[in-house]
Amino acid sequence: MSPFDVHAIRRRFPILERRFAAGGGPAEAPEGTGLVWLDAAATSQKPEPVLRAMDRFLRTSNANARRSVHRLAGEATDALEGARRRVAGWLGAGEDEIVFVRGTTEAINLVAWSYGRMTLREGDVVLVSEMEHHANIVPWQIIAGERGARVVPVPLADGIAVDLDALERLLAHERVRIVAMTHASNVLGTINDVARITQLARAAGAISVIDGAQAVPHGAVDVRSLGADFYAFSSHKVYGPTGIGALYGRRDLLHSMPPWQGGGDMIRRVSFSGTSFADPPQRFEAGTPDIMGAVGLHAALDFIDSIGQEAIRTHEADITAHALTALAAVPGLRLYGPDRPRSKDRIGVFSFALDGVHPHDAATVLDTLGIAVRAGHHCAQPLMTRLGVPALLRASIAMHTTRDEIDALVAGLDRVRELLG
Ligand code: ALA
Repeated sequence: MSPFDVHAIRRRFPILERRFAAGGGPAEAPEGTGLVWLDAAATSQKPEPVLRAMDRFLRTSNANARRSVHRLAGEATDALEGARRRVAGWLGAGEDEIVFVRGTTEAINLVAWSYGRMTLREGDVVLVSEMEHHANIVPWQIIAGERGARVVPVPLADGIAVDLDALERLLAHERVRIVAMTHASNVLGTINDVARITQLARAAGAISVIDGAQAVPHGAVDVRSLGADFYAFSSHKVYGPTGIGALYGRRDLLHSMPPWQGGGDMIRRVSFSGTSFADPPQRFEAGTPDIMGAVGLHAALDFIDSIGQEAIRTHEADITAHALTALAAVPGLRLYGPDRPRSKDRIGVFSFALDGVHPHDAATVLDTLGIAVRAGHHCAQPLMTRLGVPALLRASIAMHTTRDEIDALVAGLDRVRELLG
């Protein structure tokens, strides 16, 4: 599919054909109003090849993996391990460095409960940034609380990006063991300078844990050139199914870590006098894995590559530039995050407030027009506090977003202002 044809791409996503009934609230949308999906940062929609791959697996090869010797079990094992190889290749990692988890949240919990619990001591510090999602704050608070350590926030410069000077100062003055930061903010859209952050962490003797949930859908990630010790992402944000994600962990670190959950398939030998554990990644994959999810994730990465990451990035940069210009012209709209359309600095996530309008009310009106956005604290309450807002509206784009959809959002915001402003 080349050159990039957004309408051809849209036809691969069945849900984008969804039409809504007439009426449905104050905005009085007509019968057959279409779906404008601007909530891609919450979850992505699924293209046909992903749906087909999961359906085919369940119809023809469904079995548990790594357990039985029959043919279907072999196929299920191949599907799971094939997906692991695909993810490893995608991130520039070794196969044995990829642990399948439920998603980014579980990946960070795994690192906290295993690595964090093993290493943190009284008085140690875990650095997070003020823009973190709760998933990259709360697990650290739980483990730090148990170990007598502290979670310290690194402030943002101008409310937009991690303040690298402040990070350096904290690394110099605190006993920092772990630097846990997001690659791209789910609220501001900022892409952080992860290579620099991991370099500073390493120089100070700390390890880095990078939340890649929002970055992976929008561009190539190479964990080695980023210098990340751990890197996590979720399948459902990269056009794959919910319920599966991946944690990259540096091989030597994974080998040094104890399991965090016990059960089938993570052991070498079990007896009542003691149990020995499998090597990574199996050591961290207790219980039946989400094989169907792995198949879907594999298909999603193939789908992205069939279109081309660079082509997607270029298209999203164009939509981002258009959105920034269009939103800047909406009276009473205040954007939080980088306002220049330089795609290396930001992803297509736009959080904003509208003067005198509660975000939830605005989102409800937009919904009646078929426009799906997110409203609320975006699982980033400390960031809301830092920005001095209780909640924000957020529109977020995907590879299938068009300029017309951004224009529909802006027209929807005009309607919101008429009705509620
Ligand atoms: N973390 C997802 C979001 O930002 C759910 O919406």
